[in-house]
Amino acid sequence: MTNAAVDPSLYLPRPARIVETFPLTAQERYYKVALGTPLGHRPGQFVMLSLLGIGEAPISISCPPRDDDLLEMVIREAGSLTRAIARLGEGDWIGVRGPFGSGFDLDDFRGQDVIFVAGGLGLAPLRSLIEALLADRGAYGRITILSGSRTPAAELYRDRLAAWSEVEGVEVIRLVDRTEHQPWKGRVGLVTEPIPDLAIDPRRTVAALCGPPVMYKFTALALARKGLRPERIFVDLERRMRCGVGKCGHCQINHVYCCQDGPVFRLSELSGLREAL
Ligand SMILES: Cc1cc2nc3c(=O)[nH]c(=O)nc-3n(C[C@H](O)[C@H](O)[C@H](O)COP(=O)(O)OP(=O)(O)OC[C@H]3O[C@@H](n4cnc5c(N)ncnc54)[C@H](O)[C@@H]3O)c2cc1C
Ligand code: FES
Repeated sequence: MTNAAVDPSLYLPRPARIVETFPLTAQERYYKVALGTPLGHRPGQFVMLSLLGIGEAPISISCPPRDDDLLEMVIREAGSLTRAIARLGEGDWIGVRGPFGSGFDLDDFRGQDVIFVAGGLGLAPLRSLIEALLADRGAYGRITILSGSRTPAAELYRDRLAAWSEVEGVEVIRLVDRTEHQPWKGRVGLVTEPIPDLAIDPRRTVAALCGPPVMYKFTALALARKGLRPERIFVDLERRMRCGVGKCGHCQINHVYCCQDGPVFRLSELSGLREAL
């Protein structure tokens, strides 16, 4: 493809004003930014976030689709860009490109029981899908949310986990790897541990997973033991990205461009791809 055929707006960040930000944990902050016009995204998509002179990085969209111009994200301080963003406050401006990626298709979830498995920061993108399903509660079956964090202090979206657990037909199971002597009312153990005891009908259940790479293998194995087929398991993958729009090849896994073909994949789509998981 020649440059003339490339839509320049794909590369042009639009200015977004931070309207709300607060810490969720010692490492992660919540951000709500105003874009001027609606983002028009699907659950599971991401944006490229930038600061002039510092850099750009992919960040998951954490809110369900919405009609206003607001975008919500959770950002962990990892390097130069995210550290600089952490120093910004309400009224400051950042650049946003997107939305990008395939995201989740709500039709794959309609009429199904749904199991969410979130590890750490993985709860941020999964929230976009969880709240999209809850907004049309009658269209979906039982919803089970397994949320695993390293410690009680590292747990994201505590208030939302509590609110979701109040919704009829929704079960929330919160786990930590260790309590570190902090008060904790949930379970202690790996996020995969409750799966063998879940009542799952594999013919009408789908699962959505997002978390650290090691979590996928063990979660997929545990779900397979319950009879869930790989095409019913959706994984939200993280790969290093630069352009976000299928041009630079940074996110490539064999013939697959994670930024465009993903970041959400059916597990069955990844079976032939070396190093996908
Ligand atoms: C689709 C997608 C969605 C993401 N969503 C979020 C989100 O919602 N919130 C959030 O805080 N972060 C998210 N990330 C991760 C975020 O993009 C990186 O942490 C980013 O590099 C931060 O930029 P930086 O300049 O601050 O840090 P950098 O200087 O780029 O990197 C800091 C450290 O992280 C390592 N690193 C960078 N990118 C990755 C990666 N993809 N996988 C493993 N290690 C990496 C670097 O090697 C370095 O050690 C997402 C990444 C992808 C691909
Ligand atoms: S990030 Fe450039 S091709 Fe995917």
